[in-house]
Amino acid sequence: MDIFKKLEMLGQSHLLRFYDELDEKSKAHLAQRIEALDYSVLDITDDEFPRGHFEPLGAMTLDKIALQRESFEQSGLEAIRAGKVGAVLLAGGQGSRLGFEKPKGMFNIGVGKTLYIFECLINNLLDVVKKAGCFIPLFIMTSELNDKDTREFFEEKNYFGYDKRFVTFFVQEQLPVVDTEGRLLLSEKDDIACAPNGNGGWYASMRRAGIFHSIKNAGALEWLNVFAVDNVLQRIADPCFIGAVVQSGCSCGAKVVSKASPDEKVGVLCLEDGRPSIVEYYEMTDEMRTLYNNDGTLSYRFGVILNYLFRVDELEKAWKVKLPVHRAFKQVSYINKQGEKIRPEKPNAYKYETLVLDMVKLQKDCLAYEVEREREFAPVKNKTGIDSVESARELLKQNGIEI
Ligand code: UTP
Repeated sequence: MDIFKKLEMLGQSHLLRFYDELDEKSKAHLAQRIEALDYSVLDITDDEFPRGHFEPLGAMTLDKIALQRESFEQSGLEAIRAGKVGAVLLAGGQGSRLGFEKPKGMFNIGVGKTLYIFECLINNLLDVVKKAGCFIPLFIMTSELNDKDTREFFEEKNYFGYDKRFVTFFVQEQLPVVDTEGRLLLSEKDDIACAPNGNGGWYASMRRAGIFHSIKNAGALEWLNVFAVDNVLQRIADPCFIGAVVQSGCSCGAKVVSKASPDEKVGVLCLEDGRPSIVEYYEMTDEMRTLYNNDGTLSYRFGVILNYLFRVDELEKAWKVKLPVHRAFKQVSYINKQGEKIRPEKPNAYKYETLVLDMVKLQKDCLAYEVEREREFAPVKNKTGIDSVESARELLKQNGIEI
């Protein structure tokens, strides 16, 4: 079917508004983009997914961990030394709340010296490298929008001392964005506005990128520790966490922090119809929010911090399962009817994303592993206020990190 007919049927003919004024090369480019686009997002109108029956899920709490730390660390280090553990850095997001032009990891969180977010993460991982006496394969997920900048930055900074032979980049897929009228947008006269498809597709993208064929010793990998780019206190491939999950026999583990208050806006690890799941704060009823255990602690207490450990064989079984696609209302630049580039000040279009937290539900069990918030959780989401550059700087200082 030619692109004109195709778009007419979809009610998206406006994408060809500038077609006649394009040169042959741009025409071919636009046609190719139109052919390749995943139009399934046009059928998504809201992101309300039916939820099941929730129950609280306990955790391996700080006091229990303290009692078994040595044994857990030993198991974790053994797994790392045997090449069974890889780390996956999710760095494909657009970080729109931070409003930084470049990939978020390139943000300088330092004050008196330069300290890039990527550098913080590599420093944290190097602590484990030192302990284990070997490098840990690090996979970095980027997006079409930030891949080049990210790779060049790592090269330029000499991988912040990490052995680059253990670093593999891969690019996540994109999905088109849609305005409030359900129309696709042009990002250029010959291109369609797309955005990274969320952090839920990381394993599928890794597989599609053929990573497991290209890295040495890939067959040994049994565990992947997936984590967000923006938590500068993130402990990566933490031997104690790995050991605790290995010893628990669970197919997955999640680092969690105790909620600061019943109303804290954080997703909580729980059970949904008997399987591990994350209930978002806005999905919790008042009753759930304020349910207490006999010891006075909150029943739905453990908030996730986007640091998970997954068994590779379980990921293999589930990677083709379609995850729910969520909508997020974001600022997206586009070409208007007059052919001008508009950079909106406010959100104007929907971005479609799958989420890593929905992968937890595909696992049969999950160990909630408690960490100290002040020591391991300093997310950089916003410029100021909660989860911001300011709060992360404070926490870095509190942890004795020179900034
Ligand atoms: P966020 O949910 O904070 O999204 O990502 P974001 O796009 O980075 O930031 P905002 O919402 O626009 O401000 C959590 C983690 O998931 C990664 C991010 O890079 C971050 O590590 N992520 C997010 C991806 O890797 N790909 C995506 O498509 C989205």
